[in-house]
Amino acid sequence: MQVKTIAIGCDHGGFAYKDTIIEMLKKEGIEVHDFGTDSEDSVDYPDFVHPTASDVESGKADLGIVLCGSGNGAAITANKHQGIRCALCWTEELARLGREHNNANVLSIPARFISEEVALDMVRAFISTDFAGGRHKRRVGKIACA
Ligand code: RB5
Repeated sequence: MQVKTIAIGCDHGGFAYKDTIIEMLKKEGIEVHDFGTDSEDSVDYPDFVHPTASDVESGKADLGIVLCGSGNGAAITANKHQGIRCALCWTEELARLGREHNNANVLSIPARFISEEVALDMVRAFISTDFAGGRHKRRVGKIACA
């Protein structure tokens, strides 16, 4: 998939890596929709993750990135959206597999538990890997509940 646009959102626990990720994406020629937050002041992650997930779900962005301290709150929130498959990852390989096997369209980053370098490597892997389809397509097709 040619990734043209990425939505990104975080809380105060994920803010530390957001600007560096945005800078890297822009250098790659990717348009970024930044849904905040914009400081380390304490906020509630759903207020920033829901708009990010909606942007991907509506097709305005090709993929999304959400960050919080553990990655859990952001992932749980994003996955409430019917059209979102959000993968909580902490290695480059997991991020690649999230795309390849699960057709994840949002990456959740646990910013307080991984280095900035790993976070950037995960984002690069996430945006450069395509869904493998085949047997994985059948499995992904069984995820959604009625
Ligand atoms: C904020 O302190 C922290 O709870 C949040 O970033 C996240 O880890 C929640 O899941």
